[in-house]
Amino acid sequence: MRRVIIDTDPGTDDALALLMALNCPDLHIEGITTVGGNATLAQTTQNALRLVDHVASGRDVPVAVGAAQPAHGSFSYAYHVHGTDGLGVDLPSTARKPYSADAVELIRDRALAAPGQVSVIALGPLTNVAAALDRRPDVAKAISDIVVMGGAVDVPGNITPDAEFNIFEDPWSANGVFASGVPVTLVGLDVTHKTSMHRDGGPRWFEGKSKSAQLGNRILANSFRERAGVQDFYLHDPLAVAAAVEPELLTYRRAQVEVVTDGDERGRTVASFGDGPVRVALGVDVGRAVEVVRTLISK
Ligand code: RIB
Ligand code: CA
Repeated sequence: MRRVIIDTDPGTDDALALLMALNCPDLHIEGITTVGGNATLAQTTQNALRLVDHVASGRDVPVAVGAAQPAHGSFSYAYHVHGTDGLGVDLPSTARKPYSADAVELIRDRALAAPGQVSVIALGPLTNVAAALDRRPDVAKAISDIVVMGGAVDVPGNITPDAEFNIFEDPWSANGVFASGVPVTLVGLDVTHKTSMHRDGGPRWFEGKSKSAQLGNRILANSFRERAGVQDFYLHDPLAVAAAVEPELLTYRRAQVEVVTDGDERGRTVASFGDGPVRVALGVDVGRAVEVVRTLISK
């Protein structure tokens, strides 16, 4: 049983990733922390609360509110990808309220309460994670490892030619996390742009009648309906969760990773391969990865 905190900006692919994690018997979710990014913090938090209540209403899964803005400036959001409210589909409203402490406190408290036993799976801009680590070597020592969906090392970016969205949105925090000394697994566009579900997948996306499968299919169907001409729904965040469950799905090279923080190349992830605290994912067993995603959401 892997104890995880999921930091997220739901977000359509975040939502699929959360469905996987909530259905996965090998993961114990210590908490979900929300951050702005794909949508405003208020929307990503509401989406997380509603999703948890929709598929896991009887479970105690704290949702703690994090950062509304990056370390500098503001988030640029991605409504054109994720829909006006960040999900594109309506979820029933919920009485579930955010956790009493904020995201940084939840990350710190859970890590310090179980040194070396709690991992973070980061699916959005790294603002919360960097803040939790900032000037806190005890926290850096306590967090087991961080699986980051982010970056584009040997491939082009998706928000600029050089940068992937999560890293671009807060390159300063990304540098803080990569330099923290906590072991990082970087699941970037190098592997997520090879891992997708196709428009013509139709009902075969997720099988069964569970709330999880039905919501997953609604999210994909709406995403393709709203984005004519788009053939692939890239499984960015779902692949990060799959890698947390089955690391052998990916192949890696160790590196030091630095992020460009300004100018035209803002958000570019520069890997110096050899040794270092970051294992950069460069290869993926696509068939197995998609099967892990389908199996966990179809539950
Ligand atoms: O570049 C893909 C990442 O940016 C994913 O986490 C997606 O949800 C968006 O946040
Ligand atoms: Ca995300």
